[in-house]
Amino acid sequence: MSAKHEILFNAFAMNTVGHLSPGQWRNPRDRSGAYNRLRTWTDLAQVLERGLFDGLFIADVIGLYDVYGGGPDAALRHAAQVPINDPMLLVSAMAHVTEHLGFGVTANLTWTSPYLLARAFSTLDHLTGGRVGWNIVTGYLDSGARAHGHAGLIAHDDRYAMAEEYMQVCYKLWEGSWADDAAVRDAAGGTFTDPARVRPVRHEGAHYRLEGIHLCEPSPQRTPLLYQAGTSTAGRAFAGAHAECVFVSGPSAAVIRRRTAELRAAVAEQGRDPADLKVFSLLTVVVAATQAEAEDRHAEYLRHASPEGSLALMAGWTGLDLSGYALDQEIRYIEREGYRTALENITRAEPDRVWTVRDVAEHCAIGAIGPVVVGDAAGAADAVEAWVEETGVDGLNLAYAVLPETFEAIAAHLVPELQRRGRYKRAYRPGTLRAKLYGRDRLAPPHPAAAHRWTD
Ligand SMILES: Cc1cc2nc3c(=O)[nH]c(=O)nc-3n(C[C@H](O)[C@H](O)[C@H](O)COP(=O)(O)O)c2cc1C
Repeated sequence: MSAKHEILFNAFAMNTVGHLSPGQWRNPRDRSGAYNRLRTWTDLAQVLERGLFDGLFIADVIGLYDVYGGGPDAALRHAAQVPINDPMLLVSAMAHVTEHLGFGVTANLTWTSPYLLARAFSTLDHLTGGRVGWNIVTGYLDSGARAHGHAGLIAHDDRYAMAEEYMQVCYKLWEGSWADDAAVRDAAGGTFTDPARVRPVRHEGAHYRLEGIHLCEPSPQRTPLLYQAGTSTAGRAFAGAHAECVFVSGPSAAVIRRRTAELRAAVAEQGRDPADLKVFSLLTVVVAATQAEAEDRHAEYLRHASPEGSLALMAGWTGLDLSGYALDQEIRYIEREGYRTALENITRAEPDRVWTVRDVAEHCAIGAIGPVVVGDAAGAADAVEAWVEETGVDGLNLAYAVLPETFEAIAAHLVPELQRRGRYKRAYRPGTLRAKLYGRDRLAPPHPAAAHRWTD
C-alpha cells in the first residue's frame, strides 16, 4: 500500500455506556448513557455520514465482566460494557437516515446457529442496500459461556475450528441456495419464486449439521463484508482465509506494524491478494480548534475517567483478576482460553516493556490500549498520518471519549485537514459497502465463499 493512500475511518462504538472510556457518562455532554434511545444512534449515524466516515463498527460482547474482584460489582458500578443491548437491532434505523455509511456489526457465532445468523445478516443486507459487514467473533468471556449452560469457555483453538466450519455453512446459505434470478416476481404467471432456482443446503460436519434452504432471497452483497479481530496464531490463520477487513489493537506502532504485516502474509498464504485485506487499528483522537482547547478537553476527560472501570474491562479481556494485584505489580503472560491478544498487548508484545496494574489503569483510561492523539487540526492530522505510515494500516477504528462529541470534532477539524492533504475522500463511492472498499459487490475467487456460488 502506498504511503499516500486515503485513510479509511470507522467510528468504533458499542450498544452500551462509555464503551472504551468508562466513567465518561458522568460528563454532561456525553450521550452514550442514552445508548438505549434510538435517537442517540440515528443522530450519530448522521454525524458520521456528514464526516464521510466509511463505517460505524459496533463491538459486542455476550456476558459480563466479572473477573475483577471475582464478581460483576465493579463492571456494574462503572458501566464497564454493561448494561449492553443488541447491536444488530440498531442498524436498520441508522440505515434509514443515511445513504452511504457502512455498518460493521459484531456477532458471536458460538451461541447462534448458522441458519439464524445467516438470515439476520441477509435481512440487514437487504434493508441497508448492501451496507452491512460482520465482525466474526467467538467470545472470550467465561460468564457468557456459563450463561449458556457451559462450565466455561470452549477451548481457544476449538473456537476457531468451529468458526471455520460455521463460515462454510454460512457461505453455502448465502452464496449457493438461491440463483440470482430465483425471485422472478412474475405477477402475470403467478410465480414469486421459481422453485427450480432454489436449492437446499446440506451440511454434515464435526460441529454443525443442516438441511434446508436459505430463508432469504439474494441480497446485494450476499455474504456481508467480513471483519475479524484477534491475532493469535489461530486468529491469523482464520483471518488469512476469510477476512476482508481486520481490526487490530496494540500498545505501540511497532506492534501494530508487525501484526499488520503478519496478517497480510496470512492472506497471501491462502492464495489471496494481500491487497484484499484492509487493516484498521484502534486510535482515539481528541481534536479541537486550538491545541490548548484540545488539551483542556483531554484533561476534562481524564477527570471523568474511572480507573476501576478500566481495570474491570482489562480483567475481563485478559482473564486476570487484577484486583488481587498490587498496583505496582508487573503483569505476566500466561496461556489462557480467552482473548490472547489482549494479554499479549500488556505483556510480551514488547519484550522490553513492563506493564503494571497502575500503567494499565492510566493508559487505558480513555480508548483502552490504543494511543490517544490530542491536538488542533494540523497536529492531529500530523499524528494520524505518522501513525498510518509507521503501522502500515489502511484505516482507523476511532474510539470515542464522549459521544458524539469525539466524532463531531473529528468531522469538523480532522477530516477537512486530511482532505486538504489528499489523505481523505471528498465524496463516497457509490454502491454497496464492498463496492466502496473493493469495487465489487460480491466475494470473488479465490475467497472460499466464491466456491459455494450457485452454478447451473
Ligand atoms: C481489536 C479487537 C477487537 C475485538 N472486538 C471484539 C468484540 O467486539 N467482541 C468479541 O466478542 N470479541 C472481540 N475481540 C476478540 C476476538 O474476536 C477474539 O475472540 C479474541 O481476540 C481471541 O482471539 P485471539 O486469541 O486470536 O486474540 C476483539 C479482539 C481484538 C484484538
